[in-house]
Amino acid sequence: MSKAILECNGIAAGYVKGLNILQGVDLVVSEGEIVSIIGPNGAGKSTLLKAIMGLINVSAGRFYINGSDKTNLSTHKIVNQGIGYVPQVENVFPSLTIEENLEIGAWSLNKSRKSTIKKTLEDFPMLDERKKEKAGNLSGGQRQILALARSLVTSPKLLLLDEPSAGLSPVAINEVFTTIKEINDKGVSILLVEQNAKRALSFSNRGYVLDQGRNAYQGEGSELLNDPRVVDLYLGKL
Ligand SMILES: Nc1ncnc2c1ncn2[C@@H]1O[C@H](COP(=O)(O)OP(=O)(O)OP(=O)(O)O)[C@@H](O)[C@H]1O
Ligand SMILES: [Mg+2]
Repeated sequence: MSKAILECNGIAAGYVKGLNILQGVDLVVSEGEIVSIIGPNGAGKSTLLKAIMGLINVSAGRFYINGSDKTNLSTHKIVNQGIGYVPQVENVFPSLTIEENLEIGAWSLNKSRKSTIKKTLEDFPMLDERKKEKAGNLSGGQRQILALARSLVTSPKLLLLDEPSAGLSPVAINEVFTTIKEINDKGVSILLVEQNAKRALSFSNRGYVLDQGRNAYQGEGSELLNDPRVVDLYLGKL
């Protein structure tokens, strides 16, 4: 059993005091893993990622990064712990250039900012070729690649990705999944929230089904794909 990078124990969180959306969620991501979170709209998938990133308050439960309690730390401290995050919406600045978008991702780096951006552009030739263009000129899929690239400039060990394939064409979806796999192959663990549940589970080592702020099912990706209850309740509809 490899080491847990992230361990959530009984996380409760919400947007309004006294009104929890997450009702005690447990989840583990170990080194090297791709783990998916699936579940119906409003289940709390994005809320869980926001709670881990310190964007909303955790009202009960704790979570641990590499074994240390990091509950309710500010977002930049979570980033400094090696966690990257690509939000579900507004994850690039369309009016800024590709290069400027990467610079914003690298703001917390002091000395190595320039060299990190250079290295990131080398890793993503499509972005390098267009680095002076506004991000708003990119296609939906290319924007997601930019958002992924930007999340990598802080050298995370775990990336939290919120629906990176949403609204994309089949070709662009393939490109995004291929890029995520390449990132994982370089040793970055992935926690992936996806509407595209079948695709996500077949792509992942393990998965969690969240429903109404609670854990509903969990298991290996292939196990969940073949679990008649999961298929019946979640995979048919999603
Ligand atoms: N900023 C917010 N303020 C108040 N309530 C919110 C906010 N964002 C989400 N919610 C509520 O929290 C619940 C869970 O939302 P969340 O975005 O986590 O769901 P999700 O599982 O990511 O759904 P989707 O698949 O639609 O992205 C929903 O009832 C939603 O209305
Ligand atoms: Mg969501």
